[in-house]
Amino acid sequence: MAYRKIPTLGASRSLSSLLEAFKNPSAFLLKLSCAAGDIGQFKAGPVHIVCVNRPEWVHTILVEQASAFRKMPAVKTLSVFTGDGLLVNDGATWAKHRRLAAPAFHRQRILAYQEVAAQAAREAIASWQNGQVIDLEREMKRLTLTIVGRALFTRDINEIADEFSRDVDCALDYVNGLASRVTLPLVRSLARRNREALAAIARVDATVRRLIRARRAQPALHDDDFLDMLLAAQTEDGESLSDDEVRDEVITMFVAGHETVATVLTWLFYLVARFPEVQAGLEREARETGIAGDAQHGAPFQRPYALRVYKEAMRLYPGGFTIGREAIRDVPLGDYIIPAGAWVMISPYSVHRNPAIFPEPEQFNPERFAPENEQALPRAGYIPFGIGPRACIGGQFALMEGQIIVSTFAQHVRLVNVTPGEVGINPLVTLRPSRKIEMRVEKFTSD
Ligand code: HEM
Repeated sequence: MAYRKIPTLGASRSLSSLLEAFKNPSAFLLKLSCAAGDIGQFKAGPVHIVCVNRPEWVHTILVEQASAFRKMPAVKTLSVFTGDGLLVNDGATWAKHRRLAAPAFHRQRILAYQEVAAQAAREAIASWQNGQVIDLEREMKRLTLTIVGRALFTRDINEIADEFSRDVDCALDYVNGLASRVTLPLVRSLARRNREALAAIARVDATVRRLIRARRAQPALHDDDFLDMLLAAQTEDGESLSDDEVRDEVITMFVAGHETVATVLTWLFYLVARFPEVQAGLEREARETGIAGDAQHGAPFQRPYALRVYKEAMRLYPGGFTIGREAIRDVPLGDYIIPAGAWVMISPYSVHRNPAIFPEPEQFNPERFAPENEQALPRAGYIPFGIGPRACIGGQFALMEGQIIVSTFAQHVRLVNVTPGEVGINPLVTLRPSRKIEMRVEKFTSD
């Protein structure tokens, strides 16, 4: 069969585009992806990149033909920090790690972490003064790092929290920068930060290895946290993870599990502050249902409206800006063919802005995720956690965590936006805001 040529994205050709790409490659890639319609292609030096947005083709790539693809090589820059963890691994090693890590994310495990999330949210609120102006993104990162930290190492996180969080942040900024930016002034500043970041990576590595050794030395002391699960994990054939592999997965969970959630929450509170009716809906639900009981007693925490708001925030601002693959062999896609060696970019950000699936896609409207509307969505039309075998292992954890944080905040506090003007996006590995978002904390007097 004769295949059609994949349309070339004109925006990739001009000199001004080259400059744009040089200044901020991720922002440029995202722009091209949004301009691609169902499918489009361009060359970036020797690399052939195909952007795909049409849901049924997204499904073909990530699910039906998943074995014809591996992770896009750019993702591998993360391994400076994460080693060979799940995010960057492929093939048989990835499959083994995924099997061994999966039990840590089973429903019962996630229920056990609900109170960890609720407690951390209450502590964050208590740490703010009434009327204080906070840097929203920084506070959300602190909160989500605390939660993932306690879920991973219950016993040890308080002892290491502050320095460890700073180091994880510093290392992440560095690997995000490596993956995304190459402008000259930045190369200079990266070189300076390099030493700092590499030292931070070494400290995180040493801390995680020390914790692993301590746990191995005292196997009788069970915290029943992620670290215990990873150390005890065994397949039916008796395979388990070595200390190096556990180290890689622990750091991967920190990397994958905190900035994504923090970014979604940052955008969520920014959006909610502009829609008083949504704020009122959240406060009503929190007032009517209370908060403490079910999170503490292991019943599933369900706040349907908070969940709708979270899902809609994730539609407009999905945590990760792209899902990248490299084709191992030629893959037919409708009338087109993705040639072996091409990189494929699927951006949840552009997939979620398809007006045929989400009318008036730029509008923030949580009712899109009312059960009857959500059920009517086409498969692969909403992919904040990806789909298929490589879908996010922490998706259910993130939904639980988001719901609890949003609901706990709605019960105790209102965040009022005091940032002048509109805030745009700064796509790095996650979809960060382009500048600081400041919020004034208004605590409810009944607290
Ligand atoms: C709102 C929050 C989150 C978003 C939007 C998100 C998004 C994603 C996406 C899109 C992928 C798939 C990438 C691909 O197919 O190439 C992924 C993978 C992954 N996520 Fe998440 N994630 C979130 C939270 C979490 C959390 C809380 C954890 C862990 C505690 C986590 C751990 C991982 C891991 C380990 C992978 C790699 C899975 C594999 O390849 O087997 N994520 N995430």
